[in-house]
Amino acid sequence: MNHTPHGPGQSEGDVNSSPRRAAWQHEHLDDASRALLARDSAAFLHQSVSTPCLAAIRKAEGVFIEDLAGRRYLDFHGNNVHHVGYAHPHVIGAIQAQLAELSFAPRRFASERAVQLAEALSARFAALTGHAGRVLFTTGGSDAVEVALKLARIATGRFKTLSFWDSFHGAGFGASSVGGESLFRHGGAVGPLLPGTEHVAPFGCYRCTYGHEVDADGEPDLARCHLACAAMVRYVLERERDVAAVVAEPARAVPFIPPPGYWQAVREACHAHGALLVFDEIPTGLGKTGRFFAAEHDGAAPDIVVLGKALGGGVLPIAACIAREELNVAGAYAFGHYTHEKNPVTAAAALATLEVIEREGLVEHAAKLGAHALARLQEMKRRHPLVGDVRGRGLLLGLDLVSDRTTKAPAADAADRILYRALSRGLSFKTTMGHVLTLTPPLVTTFAQMDQALDILDACLAEDAAWAAGAAGAA
Ligand SMILES: Cc1ncc(COP(=O)(O)O)c(C=O)c1O
Repeated sequence: MNHTPHGPGQSEGDVNSSPRRAAWQHEHLDDASRALLARDSAAFLHQSVSTPCLAAIRKAEGVFIEDLAGRRYLDFHGNNVHHVGYAHPHVIGAIQAQLAELSFAPRRFASERAVQLAEALSARFAALTGHAGRVLFTTGGSDAVEVALKLARIATGRFKTLSFWDSFHGAGFGASSVGGESLFRHGGAVGPLLPGTEHVAPFGCYRCTYGHEVDADGEPDLARCHLACAAMVRYVLERERDVAAVVAEPARAVPFIPPPGYWQAVREACHAHGALLVFDEIPTGLGKTGRFFAAEHDGAAPDIVVLGKALGGGVLPIAACIAREELNVAGAYAFGHYTHEKNPVTAAAALATLEVIEREGLVEHAAKLGAHALARLQEMKRRHPLVGDVRGRGLLLGLDLVSDRTTKAPAADAADRILYRALSRGLSFKTTMGHVLTLTPPLVTTFAQMDQALDILDACLAEDAAWAAGAAGAA
């Protein structure tokens, strides 16, 4: 049976079915890459946003990836795992040392590295929330979200959740259920998801339709925003009265940045109605937004935080669910019983990653470099009418492409065109929702590398404008 996939406009990730991809591959791939791609395609189950692949890789180091033909790309995507850059020597060294010392710990045995990591993350959590924390580790982010969901259910005695359309929280059943992307909700193809997983529209100021004030340029005036998006959360919590948790990314990785006061209003609503606030910081945590936790920008303390992706230093898979001490109430249940729960090697990779972030001042660097990039992108917006909006926080950056700045109608196809133009010039990034260029460079990116990437982007936008003018003239 053939199930029709949903359109790219629905998806957080870029798609692997673009017709432009075949043309790009025809032009750029060498024989060795074609042969490996063919074997990859024959060996793996096909799925959207994954197999079949674009190209084949032989090296990943720092901010660069290198394909089989030796072509290098500045990787401004990296699935948000490469905060400290690929193959950081301190992370690799820590893993090698740990492998030599103790390579696995069955769960009934405590291991020094796992305890150290739990303590380090609890301390970070305490600095964010003012509350002591406790931790469970999983292998992947989706599993850590499952742990958070189960803990919220056990702790509150409720089973409902409130989360956001268009969000992504992972591929497991629980994570897909609180997620709001049709691509990952499978359009019913896998049958019913979890009951009680309610959704509301997410914040997203650029195309906000809730009628807040606009400034002289016709842009939403955030200083005079009525926070209707937050009021909607309160409304549902009030009506349902038995929601266990609100689950959300504090800043959406698209990116979308919350309007000022949004999370404080949601936090208050959670307090008022007995719901926990769970922040999924899997892509945004560990300094990506210029603060260690993205939530630090918004003055709202979560009850549970989920970390993953970059926690393993871009080498090993490890994720964490960190919860307030008061939520340590599920000792009678095995709700996060994962084989690699206390793996000393993944823990050593994570500890080394935290050390690199600290020692190299990467959080502060992300803030400065992000501000520099945002200023350059704003300047580009003034020259390129295709760019309707530029937004970001730290190194979570995005350009929203429009066919008309007045209507803000998403530009069909332009993001895909720009992506392949950029790949041809040695810059890789993600396209999101079909019309956003999502730039998530690693925290070790230098100012020179950032400028190089933005020069490429600028050139691609100019090239595309010339192409579009030619296409319009020919029509
Ligand atoms: C916000 C968010 N939550 C959860 C996940 C799932 O993490 P993993 O792929 O490690 O299961 C992702 C992965 O992209 C994510 O971006």
